[in-house]
Amino acid sequence: METPKKFSVFFCLFFTMNQVISKSDLMDTFCIGSSGNFTRNTTYNTNLNTLLSTLSNQSSLANYYNLTTGLASDTVHGMFLCTGDINRTTCNACVKTATIEIAKNCTNHREAIIYYFDCMVRYSDKFFLSTLETKPSTILSSTDPIPKSFSKFGQRLSDKMGEVIVRSSLLSSSFTPYYLMDTTRFDDKYDLESIVQCSLLQYDSVTEIRRKR
Ligand SMILES: *[C@@H]1O[C@H](CO)[C@@H](O)[C@H](O)[C@H]1NC(C)=O
Ligand SMILES: *[C@@H]1O[C@H](CO)[C@@H](O)[C@H](O)[C@H]1NC(C)=O
Ligand SMILES: *[C@@H]1O[C@H](CO)[C@@H](O)[C@H](O)[C@H]1NC(C)=O
Ligand SMILES: *[C@@H]1O[C@H](CO)[C@@H](O)[C@H](O)[C@H]1NC(C)=O
Ligand SMILES: *[C@@H]1O[C@H](CO)[C@@H](O)[C@H](O)[C@H]1NC(C)=O
Ligand SMILES: *[C@@H]1O[C@H](CO)[C@@H](O)[C@H](O)[C@H]1NC(C)=O
Repeated sequence: METPKKFSVFFCLFFTMNQVISKSDLMDTFCIGSSGNFTRNTTYNTNLNTLLSTLSNQSSLANYYNLTTGLASDTVHGMFLCTGDINRTTCNACVKTATIEIAKNCTNHREAIIYYFDCMVRYSDKFFLSTLETKPSTILSSTDPIPKSFSKFGQRLSDKMGEVIVRSSLLSSSFTPYYLMDTTRFDDKYDLESIVQCSLLQYDSVTEIRRKR
């Protein structure tokens, strides 16, 4: 019998920047319409509220949590992830805000994702915890122009992202699993600072991530 092929799947929050960004900022909200809307006061709505409340409460205890509530077509899957550089208080505050905002802004959507610099919250009527997805993603750019002397900046940015994601994926047993912060000095002129936080969704290997480099 053939051994089933396994993939490791990570959710990653990663930023690479050459300047300081206020970390409590909202990055993006995705209210996903493809699954259709739910009706207020239905079982799905109640399950979603319970799930968001649980995520909010759990964020004072850990930097990652997932759960599933409800049955059959009323099932809701959800998770939150905080970056490893913030304490429980900040994580809790971020997830609390995120769960309130996602419910408010994505009213009636059966699926949504909200990204802050400190955390992300996601829920869906479809099981997403072991599926590799590269979208939706979000990119924010500094309005500062990149100086001409940073000619290789684009390539370095992309190489660095690939490198730090692979390195963070190996940190399963560190104090804050899958968290990595890296500062690399280029040309003796500038520091490229990268922050990665992944959540391992199904353990196997990092093949899938390596292939993406
Ligand atoms: C909610 O939606 C409003 C209007 O589209 C937008 O201005 C605001 O930034 C959104 N907030 C979040 C948390 O997505
Ligand atoms: C779902 O609800 C949103 C917000 O109320 C609305 O803009 C959108 O048109 C609805 N979509 C469908 C398919 O009913
Ligand atoms: C939902 O239930 C609440 C409290 O039971 C009620 O106040 C509200 O009007 C209901 N909304 C709808 C759309 O039925
Ligand atoms: C979350 O905590 C609040 C305050 O302690 C509590 O009222 C609420 O029932 C909790 N939610 C869940 C789903 O346990
Ligand atoms: C958590 O971090 C925030 C922001 O850095 C800080 O203001 C706060 O004092 C910290 N709280 C604890 C309990 O360490
Ligand atoms: C979901 O959370 C449970 C602990 O509550 C954990 O054992 C499990 O590995 C998590 N699943 C995924 C897919 O992350």
